[in-house]
Amino acid sequence: MSHLFSSLKLKDVTLKNRIGVSPMCQYSSVDGVANNWHLVQLGSRAVGGAGLIIAEATAVTPEGRITPGCAGLWNDAQVEALLPITQFQIQHGAVPGIQIAHAGRKGSAAVPWEGGKHLRNDEGGYDVISPGNEPFDSDGIRLWKTPRMMDKTDIARIQTAFVDAAKRSLAAGYKLLEVHGAHGYLLHSWFSPLVNKRTDEYGGSLRNRARMMLETVEKVREVWPENLPLAVRLSVSDWDENGLSVEDNIQMAIWLKERGVDIIDCSSGGASEASRSSIGNKIGEQVGMAGQIRKGADIMTMAVGTITTAEQAEQIIATEQADIALLAREMLRDPYWPYHAAKQMGIDTKGLIPIQNSTFVG
Ligand SMILES: Cc1cc2nc3c(=O)[nH]c(=O)nc-3n(C[C@H](O)[C@H](O)[C@H](O)COP(=O)(O)O)c2cc1C
Repeated sequence: MSHLFSSLKLKDVTLKNRIGVSPMCQYSSVDGVANNWHLVQLGSRAVGGAGLIIAEATAVTPEGRITPGCAGLWNDAQVEALLPITQFQIQHGAVPGIQIAHAGRKGSAAVPWEGGKHLRNDEGGYDVISPGNEPFDSDGIRLWKTPRMMDKTDIARIQTAFVDAAKRSLAAGYKLLEVHGAHGYLLHSWFSPLVNKRTDEYGGSLRNRARMMLETVEKVREVWPENLPLAVRLSVSDWDENGLSVEDNIQMAIWLKERGVDIIDCSSGGASEASRSSIGNKIGEQVGMAGQIRKGADIMTMAVGTITTAEQAEQIIATEQADIALLAREMLRDPYWPYHAAKQMGIDTKGLIPIQNSTFVG
C-alpha cells in the first residue's frame, strides 16, 4: 500500500493523495488580478494529479506584494478572476488552497527576471513597512528600502486586511487557507529576533514576538469556516544562532494549534540577509524539521524542500515526518509529477488524472 497515494481528511476536505504543489509566485498578475497564465499553470497541476495545489503568496494589501506582478486579494475583481481557476481545479479532482501574505520590508521588488532589487516609487515601487526601520539589505543595492516602523494603527489595519483576504479566499472558492508566516515576510519578521527589536508588547520575549502572528491567525480563524482547514507556513529555522530555532517554532506551532490551526507548512530561512534563502536547503534537512514540529507540537505538517522523487515523497509520509509532501520546482519541471510517480510505483492511475486522459492511457 502506498502512503503517498492514500487520501487525507483535513476537516471536511479530503485530498485524494498526499502530494501538494507548494505556493509559487508567478509575478504575472496585473494590479493583483489573475489571468489565463494562472489558470493554465495551476490548472495543469490539477490535470497532473496533485491532491492539493496552494496558490502563490497573495497579498492582502497593494503594498503587501513582493513585486508589482504579485497576486492580490484586496478587491472583488481579484476574487472574480480566481473563481474559474478554483472551479477548474475542483472539477478535476484537486483541492485548491491559497496562501495569503504581506511582504513587509521585502515588498516593492522588481520581478526576478528583472533583477529582483527594490524599485523606487517612480519606477512602480511602493513604501514598505516592518516591525522596525532597518532595511533588509545593508549594501544599499538589493532590498535597500528603509521601512516605516509599524505602529498600533498599522497593526490593526494589517490584521483587518488578512481577515478581509480570508473572506475573499472563501468567496473565490478556496478550500484550504494558508497564512504566510515564513521567509522574512511581514508576519515572520515580527516573530524573528533577527528583525523584531521592539520594546513594546510586540517585541522582546518569544511570546511577545509571536503576538502579531497569533492575533492575526486568531482573527482569520474567526472568519475562515470551522469545517475548512487552516494552515500556517513557518520558517521553522532562521539558520542563525541568534534567530529562531526549531524549538521556538514547536512552541509557535503549539500556540497556533490552540488557535485552531490544523496543519503547519514547514519551510525555513529568509529573515535577514545573513540567513539562508528559502530555496537553498539541502535534500532532507528541512523535511526532517517537519518531523520535529509534527512530534513536538502534535500537529499535522507539510514537508517541503528539494523533494524530487517518488521514493523520497513516499518515505516522508511513511515515516510520519509529514502528512503532505509539497513540491515546488519539481512541479515546474513536470506538471504530471503525481501521474509519473504513480506509474513508477505501480499504482492505478484511474481517478488520479481526469477521465479525458485516463480513458485512453493507464
Ligand atoms: C518560482 C518560485 C516561487 C515561489 N513562491 C513562493 C510563494 O509564493 N510562497 C512561499 O511560501 N514560497 C514560495 N516559494 C518557495 C517554494 O514554495 C518552496 O518552499 C521552495 O521552492 C522549496 O521547494 P522545492 O525544493 O521543491 O523547490 C517559491 C519558490 C519558487 C521556485
